[in-house]
Amino acid sequence: MEKFLFRTHRPSHVAAAAPDKTTQNPEKPTQSQIGSGTKMGVTPKIAPSMLSSDFANLASEAKRMLDFGADWLHMDIMDGHFVPNLTIGAPVIESLRKHSEAYLDCHLMVTNPIDYVEPLCKADASGFTFHVEVSKENWQELIQRIKSKGMRPGVALKPGTPIEEVYPLVDSENPVEMVLVMTVEPGFGGQKFMPEMMDKVRILRKKYPSLDIEVDGGLGPSTIDMAASAGANCIVAGSSVFGAPEPAAVISLMRKSVLENQEKC
Ligand code: DX5
Ligand code: ZN
Repeated sequence: MEKFLFRTHRPSHVAAAAPDKTTQNPEKPTQSQIGSGTKMGVTPKIAPSMLSSDFANLASEAKRMLDFGADWLHMDIMDGHFVPNLTIGAPVIESLRKHSEAYLDCHLMVTNPIDYVEPLCKADASGFTFHVEVSKENWQELIQRIKSKGMRPGVALKPGTPIEEVYPLVDSENPVEMVLVMTVEPGFGGQKFMPEMMDKVRILRKKYPSLDIEVDGGLGPSTIDMAASAGANCIVAGSSVFGAPEPAAVISLMRKSVLENQEKC
């Protein structure tokens, strides 16, 4: 069945559905038209990466994270080709969906993202973030299909990819709604944060004040301030959350950092 409106998956304990997802509206200004210098209109989204969870108990791990205050669940989909690791695909997303209404923030580290649109729509995924490195030929069609299936499109870039490569996708008439700046080489959890990637985040935030900017890799209490002060508002964190004695404290600290840094803007 075609779904034409974005779904607002959220943890059942969150009362208000914050309608911060935009629909396809021809009247809507592009990110460039919004221009720089306006107050950031983006909200913090803390997204534990389920790659660090106990996959054998995915549903209870997801519930645990939502109870700890997570906004989104970050789902790392890898194909063993785009990255040298293999994780989950649409069947696992579909299984998890039966247990959770959460926003499932899918990060596709795959060579052929377009092949995943239909299966992930059927699985009721929420966000669909593909990599710019493998979508040079068909990003317009990809964005269009993702939106027509009721998912929210995002684009990710690897550490070695120049930030300019995502501009056309954000400036497009039919734009992506999130940029994911990788702060490690994609493929594995538990790697060291690359602070030099913060230049990309700063440039993006200056150019697009109200864009969702996500960072992924090595985020935790010791690195969150760097990311938040550069302008990131969507924070993916795997090992620092799942490995913490009190994951709720880590989630809350990261949210606080994003909010405090936004106030300074
Ligand atoms: C890596 C994945 C990340 C990973 C992050 O390719 O995209 O989402 O799970 O894990 P940490 O937070 O441990 O670096
Ligand atoms: Zn990821």
